Amino acid sequence: MSKAVKARAREKVDLLIVNADELVTLAGDNHKPRTGKQMREIGIIRNGGLAVRDGRILAVGKTPDITKGFKAENVISANGKIVLPGFVDPHTHLVFAGSREDEFQMRIEGASYMEILKAGGGILRTVRETRKASVEKLVDYGTETLDAMLEHGTTTVEAKSGYGLTTKDELKMLEVIRRLNQLHSVDVVPTFLGAHAIPPEFSNNPQGYVDLVIEEMIPKVTEKGLAEFCDVFCERGVFSLEQSRRILNAGKNSGLKPRLHADEMTTLGGAELAAGIGAVSADHLLFSSDEGIKAMAEKSVVATLLPAAAFSLMNGRYADARIMINFGVPVALGTDFNPNCWVENQQLVMAFACHFMKLTPAEAITATTINAAHAISRASEVGSLEVGKKADVIVLDVPNHKFLGYRFGVNLIDKVIKNGRVVIDKEASRSEFRLLEEQKM
Ligand code: NIG
Ligand code: FE
Repeated sequence: MSKAVKARAREKVDLLIVNADELVTLAGDNHKPRTGKQMREIGIIRNGGLAVRDGRILAVGKTPDITKGFKAENVISANGKIVLPGFVDPHTHLVFAGSREDEFQMRIEGASYMEILKAGGGILRTVRETRKASVEKLVDYGTETLDAMLEHGTTTVEAKSGYGLTTKDELKMLEVIRRLNQLHSVDVVPTFLGAHAIPPEFSNNPQGYVDLVIEEMIPKVTEKGLAEFCDVFCERGVFSLEQSRRILNAGKNSGLKPRLHADEMTTLGGAELAAGIGAVSADHLLFSSDEGIKAMAEKSVVATLLPAAAFSLMNGRYADARIMINFGVPVALGTDFNPNCWVENQQLVMAFACHFMKLTPAEAITATTINAAHAISRASEVGSLEVGKKADVIVLDVPNHKFLGYRFGVNLIDKVIKNGRVVIDKEASRSEFRLLEEQKM
């Protein structure tokens, strides 16, 4: 009789990540977005590891338990590093043509965002350029943006139309977004934002444009299945509360979930509207009233805060994230990538959130992962490292999670794993410029 007890065979999987100083799981009751103190509970496993099979997370735990149960040819050691769910960016204007660097200089010299828009610049300038651009060109630009986002750890993004403002051009933008989702490994969630500005053809008849959005655009968009959300730029001088309500209701009746740009430059009641209409998310919220914030808390509307957009506005004003968290509003963070706020990097957004809105690094992590996933209805798929979810995982070259926001201005990403595949590997590329001593001679 053999004395050796045969060890149970280890299950073969596609990929193992082991030895992470901190594996930040965000595991827990993720049926609802996180609020209050839950935003600081990020589920850290020290010396953590995980197993991946068929693009999904198969197991999460302490490294010895993972290596006891599983083996793989592809093993990543995250020793000295941290592991997080891939970032989710829940608010981007991903697709556009052209740029507005000359307006940037005008704003530095004192012109306001609204003055530039009223003079036919801003969004309207980007509309002119985007209308002229072909689907292929827009796909090229969008691809470059998604590359940069992925390099900085973002594995799922929301993307809005809104630089077409005719039925044909809005559909064109949504078609570009659809193709980007198919062509790029980053997952792209489509939002129809026909109500982004009143186009010049309707400057004397804004109500006519609202009717066009409701009667023609929304039916076409939903018939073609090109969007999941409907958004509105609800702002004094753009779309009024009443117009926004009509558009969002029309979208809702056609199956588009409501979200909105709310209270970005004035206290208009956007937060109240978001709560009243059952929006999934209300975004910006720099000028929201306390009543509006309380109403959002009651209805569990996610506050998607965009400190990089506030930074770009150069008014020194930021959303009051602390009041929102105290009132029980779930907070998410996004880039608001657009030609006025050209940033692809959620790590920088976290740094802004910590410095200007006093989020702690743990809260900022919650806001860019599980709460951001809730803000775009993807929390059952992404936003945490839990069994069954997509294996969208990032390895960051820092010793603990408190470095997020603290060390800023460089890309902390070491590796990005999307659907279980390593798509970015900085360590591998570093070996090309870290020369051996003898090579330098
Ligand atoms: O979220 N405020 C409206 N929309 C964008 C800006 C778009 C643009 O300026 O092109 C935002 O800030
Ligand atoms: Fe926006």
